Parts: sequence; C-alpha cells; structure tokens
Amino acid sequence: MILNRAEYWLMNNPVRSAIQRYFEAPKLLRMGGAMDGGRALEVGCGRGIGTKLILGMFGADSVDAFDLDPRMVAQARTRLAPYGVRARVWVGDVNTISAPDASYDAVFDFGIIHHVPEWRRALAEVHRVLKPGGRFYAEEVLRRFILHPITRQFLEHPLKDRFDSSDFDRELKATGFDPVVSEDLWNSAAWFIAKKQVST
Ligand SMILES: C[S@@+](CC[C@H](N)C(=O)[O-])C[C@H]1O[C@@H](n2cnc3c(N)ncnc32)[C@H](O)[C@@H]1O
Repeated sequence: MILNRAEYWLMNNPVRSAIQRYFEAPKLLRMGGAMDGGRALEVGCGRGIGTKLILGMFGADSVDAFDLDPRMVAQARTRLAPYGVRARVWVGDVNTISAPDASYDAVFDFGIIHHVPEWRRALAEVHRVLKPGGRFYAEEVLRRFILHPITRQFLEHPLKDRFDSSDFDRELKATGFDPVVSEDLWNSAAWFIAKKQVST
C-alpha cells in the first residue's frame, strides 16, 4: 500500500533519517550482527537511507532495493547513485520479489510489511530469496499501534489481520526461519532477526 500524505511526510524528513541511523539500525545490528560482505536486499527501501546503512553500517558488498512507490524509488536512485553497481534500485512489490530463489545473504525490512495486506505472503517471498543460513533483519509496526484511534486519524494502513510480535514470530517459524529473536517496544513496534534454516 502506498503511503498517504501524512506518512509520506513522516518518512521523508531529517528526523526520520536520524531515528533510522541512530536508533533502529544500531538496534538491528546489535541483535543480528554485521554481514560478512555479501549480497543484501532491502524491501520497501523508501528513499534509500536504509540501503546506505546496509552498505556502510552492516557491511554488505552490494544491496538490491525496491519500493512500491515510484516517487520513493526516484529519490533512492539519486541518493544511491554514488555507490554505482553496489546499489541497484527498482519499483517492485514484496509479494512478488523479482529475484531467483536463494539470491541473498541478508534481507532487510525497515517497517514495510505492516503495509502489506497479505503479509504472510511477503514473509514467504523473503524466505524464498534468502540463501540457506541467510538472515532476515526486520523492524515492524504492530497491531496495537495501527489500530489505535489516534493513529487511525492520520495514518492509513491495512486494518484486517494485523500482527503482534508473537504472531510475526510464529509466522516466521512456520515459514522456515529458525532461530528467531525479537524485541518489543510497548507492544507497538518490534525488531526481529530470523535465520533461514539450512535444511529448508
Ligand atoms: C513506513 S515506509 C518505510 C520506508 C523506509 N523503509 C524507511 O524506513 O524509511 C513503508 C514503505 O513501504 C513501501 N511499500 C508498501 N507496500 C509495499 C509493497 N507491497 N512492496 C514494496 N514496498 C512497499 C511504501 O511505499 C513505503 O516506502
């Protein structure tokens, strides 16, 4: 789902970048560790701030990144142009990722899967494109925040079948991730590190 005007503004300003750089990415890094080089994918890359962090802070050799919103992709392309072939960006949907099976050493999700009505399908796609042993780094917004009456006044999300951290955790395991570790903030946001089982 494309962001409404309020959330588009919330995602496109220096405060959002600072939160991602100084709080969210370091938290995922502490929980999941850095990459040992390799290929990463960022789903729902927005304007490309996360992609830069995956290359710099997480140590990926290259990052492929896509977003459903062409306006976001245009911004990300400009931001990532200095990285040349290390960063490739396209318009795409997490429910049909245009990459072969077992392509990536890591997949990153900075807060997009709660925007997807068929979120279980998105997890299956992430699992498909990860190499066995690859890691999924995810930060997600939970049902409590999405359904809160104040949030609903100004943000637009799918409202049916939203998840809390235990639902997301359970679905990751059912999809073939193990182990899964998670941390929760006020039952409103959560961070997950999930490893694709080697035998699946
Ligand atoms: C809350 S924003 C987060 C953007 C960016 N990851 C960040 O942290 O700043 C959610 C993003 O997910 C994108 N999005 C929503 N549904 C999507 C889908 N099905 N496939 C890919 N991207 C999607 C939106 O266009 C938006 O850029």
